[in-house]
Amino acid sequence: MKGDIGVIGLAVMGQNLILNMNDHGYKVVAHNRTAEKVDEFLQGPAKGTNIVGAYSLQELVDKLESPRKIMLMVRAGDVVDSFIDKLVPLLDKGDIIIDGGNTNFPDTNRRVAALKEKGIHFIGSGVSGGEEGARFGPSIMPGGSPEAWPFVKPIFQAISAKTENDEPCCDWVGNDGAGHFVKMVHNGIEYGDMQLITEAYQFMKDGLGMTHDEMQSVFIEWNKTELNSYLVEITSDILGYKDTDGEPLVEKILDTAGQKGTGKWTGINALDMGIPLTLITESVFARCLSSLKDQRVEAEELFGKKESIVEGDKQVWIEALRQALLASKIISYAQGFMLMREASNENGWDLNYGNVALMWRGGCIIRSAFLSNIRDAYDIDSELSFLGSDSYFKGILENSMSAWRKVAAKSMEVGIPMPSMTSALTFLDGYTTARLPANLLQAQRDYFGAHTYERVDKPKGEFFHTNWTGKGGDVSSTTYNS
Ligand code: 6PG
Repeated sequence: MKGDIGVIGLAVMGQNLILNMNDHGYKVVAHNRTAEKVDEFLQGPAKGTNIVGAYSLQELVDKLESPRKIMLMVRAGDVVDSFIDKLVPLLDKGDIIIDGGNTNFPDTNRRVAALKEKGIHFIGSGVSGGEEGARFGPSIMPGGSPEAWPFVKPIFQAISAKTENDEPCCDWVGNDGAGHFVKMVHNGIEYGDMQLITEAYQFMKDGLGMTHDEMQSVFIEWNKTELNSYLVEITSDILGYKDTDGEPLVEKILDTAGQKGTGKWTGINALDMGIPLTLITESVFARCLSSLKDQRVEAEELFGKKESIVEGDKQVWIEALRQALLASKIISYAQGFMLMREASNENGWDLNYGNVALMWRGGCIIRSAFLSNIRDAYDIDSELSFLGSDSYFKGILENSMSAWRKVAAKSMEVGIPMPSMTSALTFLDGYTTARLPANLLQAQRDYFGAHTYERVDKPKGEFFHTNWTGKGGDVSSTTYNS
């Protein structure tokens, strides 16, 4: 009997996905560039299973049922292209290559188009959930050649995480790089969620002077509220974790954040598409700022250490912080969905936002109860332009407003950096202001560069130029928006 699917790449994610597929009754053919890895896997975790090995790409191809489904679980970038180049001459028309890595979606767009010319189908799929997710149920976000989906769907939906109603956290996202785009936004939101949690932690630790055990209890309690999520849950575990000397391990970790690029891509994309994705972008910059450790140490000496004590009833502040975190999180998701909406319109992907929320409901790093409410919001209005306008989320934003402002103002007053929580509030203030000061900005542009402006008392699309000083000419520059 031939194999149902081949997987290339036996690092931890690849191995765990294979074992997961095997658990669900699929016969998997496993290949790795180095043959020893195949042996190690077959004699180790795969021992006693139906998994078979392949020591060359030819052997892999020969051992697979048609149309062949070959999933690459290798490092994103050139390695993917190099495997595709080697595989294509061995494949038949109608065969399917799947890239399950964290690929930047323009690469997936390119690969789908290039392989289409050769009659090969290509799927670029986000896979989220880390090692454990891959093993027991990840969130899977596939996009690319739609013709390939019916062949891959049963396997992917079987191995994916399930919601509380047993719905698979995996569905077809859209054409081209849509799957990898949605995974990229997932990661951007992951950056935002993590940053928001760290801001709350710093406020509790430095502002309220709380111990790690106290903070752990707070996160345990928060996890029983609307904030219920994987990231809040692991934060409570981390805060309670003691090093061998009994001290909290988290305080021994160097405060410089790493990043592999997906958050940055999300920010770059938002700039490209003109979407005010402020919270995620602030979260990326917060990681960049954290990595300037030596400069920060010097600057603290230069400017003096801040005493950022927050006075007042601790319990009241903790509840205010919870509300600020929740409200900020709504803004982050609202911005992320705005970005997806713009990308969907620009690329003709026809994204189903309710389905995206469902795919993120379980298995992935940002999984949370909250995503069910997002799904409900898009069930009510599939073209909702701002998540915060949905009545459930609008209610939370309104109820949290006063606490959120207090936390933001206090952080500014005492000097605790909270870039994501404060930028979220500023965004909402801007978004809910019918008239912003951009009129003055337009006047400035017209003043120094004759860039023209539209008038409130004239139809949109009619452009005017004023000779502000009497010295400039009446000639205006061409009007265009980038
Ligand atoms: C997931 C994660 C994963 C990502 C890591 C690291 O969905 O399972 O998003 O894909 O690679 O979280 O990302 P950074 O190194 O950029 O923090």
